[in-house]
Amino acid sequence: MVINKVITLNEFILETQKDFPYASGELSGLLGDIAFAAKLINRSVNKAGLIDILGNAGNSNIHGEEVKKLDIYAHEQMTNCLRVSGECAGIASEEADGIVVFDDERSRKAQYVVCFDPLDGSSNIDVNISIGTIFAIYRKINPVGICDELDFLQPGKQLVAAGYVIYGSSTMMVYSTGNGVNGFTLDPSIGEFCLSHPNIQTPPKGSIYSVNESYWNKFSPGVNNFIRYCKDNDKATGRPFNSRYIGTLVSDFHRNLIKGGIFMYPATTSHPNGKLRLMYECNPMAFLVEKAGGMATDGAQRILDIQPTALHQRSPLFIGATDLVRKAMEFVYEEQYAAL
Ligand code: AHG
Repeated sequence: MVINKVITLNEFILETQKDFPYASGELSGLLGDIAFAAKLINRSVNKAGLIDILGNAGNSNIHGEEVKKLDIYAHEQMTNCLRVSGECAGIASEEADGIVVFDDERSRKAQYVVCFDPLDGSSNIDVNISIGTIFAIYRKINPVGICDELDFLQPGKQLVAAGYVIYGSSTMMVYSTGNGVNGFTLDPSIGEFCLSHPNIQTPPKGSIYSVNESYWNKFSPGVNNFIRYCKDNDKATGRPFNSRYIGTLVSDFHRNLIKGGIFMYPATTSHPNGKLRLMYECNPMAFLVEKAGGMATDGAQRILDIQPTALHQRSPLFIGATDLVRKAMEFVYEEQYAAL
């Protein structure tokens, strides 16, 4: 009889973080806090159709988007779990206009700040389609005193850790502290995330493209030429590629990470900077994809090199398997050179 040892997320964090350069247990604690918040969010997501938590909260978030009750709940769970931990100096969330500074005695000494999208894909909640939570952890620039906005406005290459939780057919947490990407599936019977996807590497050659094609008349010609390339017949490269688009970044990204593909949310004529947020959508996913062997760009530069200037700034995003992102860039650059 083969008995596989189950490795829980907490065991894994403790084992891998002890060699971390700044190992003080704070980062381990933070990851544990996020996992705990995710379990609380997961519990509510699973009951979404059962209790009166579905539907609009009756107001808009700071971007004028419709806010669902679960968005608020997820924001509060993440914020509260991080606030009481004493391991986090402050947070930035899609659901909060400015940063939230934790000003109690322990948090003032904390070395990390966390940016998060508490519930990504919230427009999919009502129709029972997978959604997620995305997080990005930075070290404070100034180790002394309470945090300020500059501690958050760091380029993604400065990230210490990033990850996401996907509330899908099962609930998974995928994260990296810079050394490999690992996935943990929540076993509801014991309430623990268990290592299920060790050392995830994204296939270097992808065969899936994910983009909201309904914006075709708002994309640049280069983007449309790449989409046409994906649809063309070509035996040698295995085209046409499969088109898959869920409309939840976490879910589209997760599928492509495992199976190999490209996700795109390019600039459109109505959204010249794309739709996705740099700090808590593009950066954490770019960090993960690079650690898994893929790449991420905004069409002009590596996502992780972008110096943010505002908490909620947007960025175009091309992310996934290296061959497909490079190919997409050939079409984008061709268009840019043609315009010179
Ligand atoms: P929201 O949380 O408002 O539903 O937005 C989801 C985000 C992201 O998760 C997804 O990739 C993208 O928006 C989908 O946008 P479109 O509907 O414009 O394709």
